[in-house]
Amino acid sequence: MIEMAAIDARGLQKTYGTGDAAVTALRGVDLTARYGEMVALVGPSGCGKTTLISILAGLLSRDGGMLQLAGVDPDALSNHDRTLWRRHNIGFVFQQFNLIPQISVVENVAIPLLLRGDSRNSSIERAAAMLQRMGLQGREYSRSDKLSGGQQQRVAMARSLVHEPRILVCDEPTSALDGATGQRVMELVREQGCREDRLVVIVTHDDRIFHFADRIVHMDDGRVTRVTDAQVEIAALRAAFAAEKDSA
Ligand SMILES: Nc1ncnc2c1ncn2[C@@H]1O[C@H](COP(=O)(O)OP(=O)(O)OP(=O)(O)O)[C@@H](O)[C@H]1O
Ligand SMILES: [Mg+2]
Repeated sequence: MIEMAAIDARGLQKTYGTGDAAVTALRGVDLTARYGEMVALVGPSGCGKTTLISILAGLLSRDGGMLQLAGVDPDALSNHDRTLWRRHNIGFVFQQFNLIPQISVVENVAIPLLLRGDSRNSSIERAAAMLQRMGLQGREYSRSDKLSGGQQQRVAMARSLVHEPRILVCDEPTSALDGATGQRVMELVREQGCREDRLVVIVTHDDRIFHFADRIVHMDDGRVTRVTDAQVEIAALRAAFAAEKDSA
């Protein structure tokens, strides 16, 4: 059997707006990823990271190029079918969390389960268990806008993992977390998200969490410029750090 790639993207292009206001965010991005791995996406602000992962999560349509996600081209589906497909296969953590402030934390986390038709009781129960694993027990019935930034970020992570998506896409998932909490959350993401039939793509500036990744994809100005092995990259970072300390 030929193993299907989890992500197979070739020449992805995306431009926002038209005419003088047009901004080209992706200029032909190639990316493949296997099940069981975690890919970290890095690059300067504005280089197209959020645009790329929004396309990889089926949330945004591309203008050009080809894409297969778990064997499916999301743009070939009707809006209705794409929404259903996303609900079953994709978890997404937004850079701005996108929690619903009017409802409780546990209800926010239960949304993916309720949307796919699980009963209310079992959804709430599973959501509460995921919150506990994120270290948020006792906050289940708070409103999400009453939580700290780091707590909200963990609620968003819990919501993205609760339905065990095949493809989990996270935009800066540790940006609001202290070092120890970031490590705990990433351990959970690695354990839950990188099983043999799953994949995690994570945008990050946080080199403290590089070691959770298998590969690091570098982007600049709408293109992938380099793909490195995460362990090799970490060794290079350590060497650069040591050299800097020596010369100081
Ligand atoms: N909805 C939009 N409308 C118009 N331009 C946009 C839109 N979203 C992004 N852009 C532009 O596309 C380019 C890529 O943006 P994107 O958000 O993908 O970058 P990023 O790498 O995620 O940056 P950051 O690290 O700051 O989050 C930027 O020039 C940005 O201004
Ligand atoms: Mg971004």
